[in-house]
Amino acid sequence: MTLPALHALACPNCGQALDQTERRLHCPDGHSFDLAKQGYAPLIAPGANTTTGDTADQIAAREDFLSLGAFDPLIDATARACLTDAPGVLVEPGCGTGHYLAAALDADERREGIGLDTSKYALRRTARRVLRRAAGTQGRLAAVLADAWTRLPVRDGAAAAVLNVFAPRNPDEIARILHPRGLLVVLTPRQDHLRELVGALELLSVDPAKPQRTVDQLGTAFTAEQTDELRYVIELGRDDALRLVAMGPSARHHDPAALAAAVEKLPEPIRATVSATVTRWRKRS
Ligand SMILES: C[S@@+](CC[C@H](N)C(=O)[O-])C[C@H]1O[C@@H](n2cnc3c(N)ncnc32)[C@H](O)[C@@H]1O
Ligand SMILES: [Zn+2]
Repeated sequence: MTLPALHALACPNCGQALDQTERRLHCPDGHSFDLAKQGYAPLIAPGANTTTGDTADQIAAREDFLSLGAFDPLIDATARACLTDAPGVLVEPGCGTGHYLAAALDADERREGIGLDTSKYALRRTARRVLRRAAGTQGRLAAVLADAWTRLPVRDGAAAAVLNVFAPRNPDEIARILHPRGLLVVLTPRQDHLRELVGALELLSVDPAKPQRTVDQLGTAFTAEQTDELRYVIELGRDDALRLVAMGPSARHHDPAALAAAVEKLPEPIRATVSATVTRWRKRS
């Protein structure tokens, strides 16, 4: 089976095109990479740090929580924002379980997609993610082990859109892989995102300077074209509230047993405000 989006992938060592022989990807210079048995391609650049990825527990919580549908308005808005007439694939550095990328591919049946992450647990999910409108049996979504802070294993200008959803972003590399008419679609939490849970459980809150930091970081290479602000309230049982906390950044900073005990004390249903901005950025010419 040929890896989806193979034509858009690049050797992490030399940047040249990759070819596939059985379960091995290789470049003209002889660098080669065996597909993992779980289906993802390890394309790790020199100097990459692949220890930064989410843990098995975080990914399991994310899979279960996102499958509930409580974040579907965010997922759908992101997918809509990726629609473009630019040629190329969809790429998501820090794709996690692949829910957002799969929705964007479902919204645009002509595309193939590449999900990049440093978490093997995330990539196992992404490699298996079923698209509603799968083209043929081989699917349209490649899962790739790669560090978003190094050279991305994607050809210059090969991406019609890059998704950036609660994940690391490297503006220079994103600009390099985007087609001249391509789009960078960024979903960022606003300060009141999950504010009820942040208050009740003393979670990490969104830094008020974050929107300005995003503009400072992206503004030299990109111009913001359009933003879509989403804010709505969800009601959760304790188990799902715990999954929501366990999939987020606070999971790394809190003792899981203490968090579970704190959630256990909250009266059901647990209300939480979902508040985020989807912005479409275009490359400056
Ligand atoms: C908060 S999660 C967001 C996942 C997905 N975009 C979503 O919203 O469901 C951040 C993801 O970035 C991944 N990640 C962390 N550091 C990374 C890096 N240096 N390169 C690529 N992915 C990374 C984590 O493993 C995790 O899957
Ligand atoms: Zn090479």
